[in-house]
Amino acid sequence: MIEIVNDSLKKLKKKNIPNPELDLRILLSYASKHNKNIFLNNINISDVDIDKFNLILSKRLNNQPVSKIINKKSFWKSDFFVNFDVLDPRPETELIVEETLKNYKNKSQKLKILDIGTGSGCISISLAKEFPNSSLTAIDISKKALRVAKKNIILNKLDNQIELKLCEFNDLNEKYDLIVSNPPYLSEDDYSKTQLEIKKYEPKISLVANEGGLSFYKMFARNIEKIMNENSHFIFEIGHNQLESCKAIFSNSNLKLKKITKDIQKIDRTLTFMKIWVEFFLNVYIVYNDLIIFKLLINFFNSNKMMYKKTNGRTTYKTSRRPSYKKTGGYQNYKGRNKGNVSQQYNKYLKLAKEAFRSGDRIQSEYYYQFMDHYYRLMVELGISVDENTQNNDVNQSISDDTITENPNVEENLDSKTDNQSIDTIPFIAEDSKVKKSKISE
Ligand SMILES: C[S@@+](CC[C@H](N)C(=O)[O-])C[C@H]1O[C@@H](n2cnc3c(N)ncnc32)[C@H](O)[C@@H]1O
Repeated sequence: MIEIVNDSLKKLKKKNIPNPELDLRILLSYASKHNKNIFLNNINISDVDIDKFNLILSKRLNNQPVSKIINKKSFWKSDFFVNFDVLDPRPETELIVEETLKNYKNKSQKLKILDIGTGSGCISISLAKEFPNSSLTAIDISKKALRVAKKNIILNKLDNQIELKLCEFNDLNEKYDLIVSNPPYLSEDDYSKTQLEIKKYEPKISLVANEGGLSFYKMFARNIEKIMNENSHFIFEIGHNQLESCKAIFSNSNLKLKKITKDIQKIDRTLTFMKIWVEFFLNVYIVYNDLIIFKLLINFFNSNKMMYKKTNGRTTYKTSRRPSYKKTGGYQNYKGRNKGNVSQQYNKYLKLAKEAFRSGDRIQSEYYYQFMDHYYRLMVELGISVDENTQNNDVNQSISDDTITENPNVEENLDSKTDNQSIDTIPFIAEDSKVKKSKISE
């Protein structure tokens, strides 16, 4: 390795600069005459602008962050211009973009997004690229920060999609589908203890918040709901150890904490809130879906049963397996309401069938015949002799008169017709029903 590399590495290590090799490589590449990437083990010193390199190395030895020296910081999928007027985009802030993508799966949807405290514009620009049909409003209270954001928006050709506003969120009265924010959240005390590098080269306004670092969360809990649509998400970053305070602050709001996301160091880093009633309906929806699954399970376990609708509209299940014919002894054990009345019923329908037939109404006769046939089969099953019973039972008594429409005239006329008609020509009587045949042809 050539001398300049060795010397520079030694100086950086002596100053306890973390990742000295990486920083050196980046600084050498930045000082490259031909804008080339330079690798430490394969360096051609004639490619490097030595004066420029010495200047930037001294800045780094003075604890100036590499990003502020080369005016570039990567975030999500892009590089951003940064300077002393904005906070460097941090890897943990990428969680806001990640969480947004988890909540809004359809990237082609037209979201109306608000970014509170946009700084370099890194969140807005990343979201605008992920959701090309969305429109964004990026606000900041720092005019200088907004200049940097504008530069990045123009570099990324997103000036049609992102509008910049110099204001606080309380000045807004439109509603948004999604609100994101990485607000300042350090207390004065915490700020005094931060690294020199940060204090010296990052704007204090981007880091420190009043009320012990919680003033933004308190304002959000009071007012953010007013500019959220009903199903909006509000996703924001919190500082180390601020989870419990934030939970307490938002416990009196109309927002419900939907998700807490930890960063790579397992620190609670982003909170996702929604409006309470949306959460309620979401839960109802989820419970309803669970109920459907539950009902399907019941149906599955009752699949060997029949489902009946009761008269009150409720559903009940009864085994669909019919009682075994053999087990119950078939009709021998029949205890139906017509048991004592089987032969009477038989005779009733026999008489009705006859009358209908005589009166020429064969359809009605066929109808009665079917009932008669049913009782006939029952009688056979029960071992009741057709003749005995028809004799023993007073058929006329069991059939009330008003069930038969008497029309003597018609009967008279039709009687003659029936008399002339052979029993075999009566169409609805089965060949094997000898008993019935004889009865009907009486
Ligand atoms: C932590 S920085 C976040 C910058 C950028 N969004 C990011 O994540 O890298 C907070 C930003 O909020 C801005 N800010 C501070 N107070 C504000 C206020 N009252 N209203 C709007 N923005 C504010 C600061 O200027 C700063 O740019």
